[in-house]
Amino acid sequence: MWRVDVDLPGRPYPVLVGPGVRKRLGEVLPPGVRRLALVTQASVPWTLPDELPVARFEIPDGEVAKSLAVVGELCGRFARAGITRRDAVVGLGGGVVTDVAGLAAALYHRGIPVVHVATTLLAQVDAAIGGKCGVNLPEGKNLVGAFWQPAAVLCDTETLRTLPAAELRSGRGELAKYAFLGVGDLETRSIEEQVAACVAVKASFVVADEREGGRRALLNYGHTLAHALEAEGLADGRPLRHGEAVGVGLAFAARLAAHLGRIDGEDGDVVAAHLRVLHALGLSERLPAGADCARLVSLMARDKKATDGLTFVLDGPAGLEVVPGVPAEVVTEVLASHPREPAPRNGDGPER
Ligand SMILES: NC(=O)c1ccc[n+]([C@@H]2O[C@H](COP(=O)([O-])OP(=O)(O)OC[C@H]3O[C@@H](n4cnc5c(N)ncnc54)[C@H](O)[C@@H]3O)[C@@H](O)[C@H]2O)c1
Ligand SMILES: [Zn+2]
Repeated sequence: MWRVDVDLPGRPYPVLVGPGVRKRLGEVLPPGVRRLALVTQASVPWTLPDELPVARFEIPDGEVAKSLAVVGELCGRFARAGITRRDAVVGLGGGVVTDVAGLAAALYHRGIPVVHVATTLLAQVDAAIGGKCGVNLPEGKNLVGAFWQPAAVLCDTETLRTLPAAELRSGRGELAKYAFLGVGDLETRSIEEQVAACVAVKASFVVADEREGGRRALLNYGHTLAHALEAEGLADGRPLRHGEAVGVGLAFAARLAAHLGRIDGEDGDVVAAHLRVLHALGLSERLPAGADCARLVSLMARDKKATDGLTFVLDGPAGLEVVPGVPAEVVTEVLASHPREPAPRNGDGPER
């Protein structure tokens, strides 16, 4: 088992990583907790240790569950089940569950403790760590949320055994991101070591900048285009998974940095290094066949991080930094020349 401490001043918390760590829930609960409000989904085939008193609350599957309506209903169900401030919420699932459970815990009784038991690779290396929890509005993804640090996070790598291959691939998109944020070589490490190494990097960013005023924003590497690709997918009914979209976004960010002269040319070492990492993790750098560049650029301009023109996290002589004000024409040009998936032949379904 690996233990990474998120050393936030005054409220540090542990992240345990390894097979079976969900069984250690009793050890990491805040003292005095009497009862657990377990938030999970029917499609999560794992449970908590049965010695703990648990009230179970299921939420729907997928992004539709990330709504204020679901959070409100959940809080109502907590109240009807008699959950009090001396109890704790446990989110058992992927990023959708940890976002919804985290926000419900932040709001219920003005905040009760939450422990995340992350069961997807994406939640283990990213969503469950760092206290950001948010839900979607019709106007955009993650527009409403809170910073609510968990009391502990359990990344049980045994639970990854049942994770569908497409979800594992999505998690690898975030692993790829950490490859450019100082995690070091991932290829030779076990899955536990990979998760623990990513958690350690995320923890260091969170401790340095809990509220995303500066350095933490670098965790959005690859995400400006990724969010637009996800939104475009939602609009036309072909959703691209978050991590897959991040993979494309990383390759695009490298090419954009090269085009802007921040790093060597578009065929240079840095771009090649991005492609190597993506391919080693079984990810594609290609845009979906039907991606509409103009629509993607307008979606990126609406991204909540776009306070001054289009904002990207880009590589440069000083490493990664947040670069605002990238002209839309330049973004359009680099996007138009970005590799694409071949168009499906007649009769072929979408291939995700
Ligand atoms: N708050 C943050 O800091 C943060 C960071 C990154 C991503 N996110 C959010 O995370 C969400 C995506 O999370 P995700 O990729 O984990 O998807 P997800 O939570 O939708 O999980 C994917 C699917 O796998 C199922 N599942 C979960 N664990 C399983 C298991 N062990 N075996 C079998 N099935 C299992 C789920 O029920 C779901 O159907 C997005 O909404 C994204 O915005 C949040
Ligand atoms: Zn992400």
